[in-house]
Amino acid sequence: MSTATGLTATGVPVVDGIPFARAGREELQDRVARLLADGEVDRARIALFADADDWWTQPAPPPEQLARVPAARSLREAMALLGMGRVGDYFAHRWSDPTHLATLALLGQHWPGDRPVVDVACGIGTQLRELSRRGVPELVGVDVVWSKLWLAQRFVCPGARYVCADLTAAPDLQVPRPAYVTCHDAFYFLRDKPAAAAAMHALAGPGGTVVVGHAHVADTVSAGEPLSPQEYAGLLGASVLYDDAELTAALLAARPPVPAPADRLTSSEAIALVAGDLRAPAPVDLGEPLGPLRANPLYVGGELRWPSDRYAAEYGPRSGHLPARWPELLPADAARRRLLVDLPEEW
Ligand SMILES: C[S@@+](CC[C@H](N)C(=O)[O-])C[C@H]1O[C@@H](n2cnc3c(N)ncnc32)[C@H](O)[C@@H]1O
Repeated sequence: MSTATGLTATGVPVVDGIPFARAGREELQDRVARLLADGEVDRARIALFADADDWWTQPAPPPEQLARVPAARSLREAMALLGMGRVGDYFAHRWSDPTHLATLALLGQHWPGDRPVVDVACGIGTQLRELSRRGVPELVGVDVVWSKLWLAQRFVCPGARYVCADLTAAPDLQVPRPAYVTCHDAFYFLRDKPAAAAAMHALAGPGGTVVVGHAHVADTVSAGEPLSPQEYAGLLGASVLYDDAELTAALLAARPPVPAPADRLTSSEAIALVAGDLRAPAPVDLGEPLGPLRANPLYVGGELRWPSDRYAAEYGPRSGHLPARWPELLPADAARRRLLVDLPEEW
């Protein structure tokens, strides 16, 4: 984990080892650079904590509250201090949601091996943590929101390198090629999808791999601008596509996922796509989470309790793997079904 603070050779401010190169935030970049020049590292960090997604409508918490984030003893405490609301619920319970299980099936079937990995729109690094713990050596996480990368580095995957940037306007990430470039539960958000697809391929380089997980086809709950499977496949040059529900089902059944042609996926809610070098399946089963395992914290007093109505509406109908009540006798596949989960140590 890097703690470097200062300016890069190109003048990009770096706090706690994470450069802030987000396009369209030049005023904030200048402010942070000035604070660093004055030795005001804590105020620079607070200024970066206050920056959010363009679509986020909540005001930033007061600076006195943001100043307490570095002392937070858990991921959830830090997310609460950052005022992350429903996004905090999403990240806190990402380890058992059906979309994450689909992502694991996808990564497991098209495993990066020893290729360098760039996780675009990596959020708090949930997938990077999995890759890191399974031995993938070189990991870079990119996201537009600096505080999410800070959480990733502090609580979820300290072994990765992080850069705060927009995928379509990122500085040179200095990743050797061919690389394995992934993006999960985010590609459909991106406004300029042709530019995003081109940026991912440029990062991957000749002979590289581009893997997009959970791209909404029909958008029911989340924000975003979905495309049809054919449009996604055309943009990404994908040769293998999956229905997201098939990926989740395959992980739960401990079998390889079955791909489908684009024209069979038009009524899917979400799909996944792979372009370039398809790689080989992982030598390990990502359906079996690594220990130490803990009881899924969605169970309170023996009952499955969703963190919010919004979360229940989005994930409840797709979470048949989580029974309504904690079973008296744990089934043999309790870990596969994420009754037991491998939460970060300071969850
Ligand atoms: C729903 S979250 C998914 C996070 C993570 N990939 C996961 O699966 O847990 C979407 C992420 O996309 C990021 N994001 C949105 N637009 C972006 C852009 N243009 N470049 C990089 N990241 C972006 C957001 O900050 C957010 O962390």
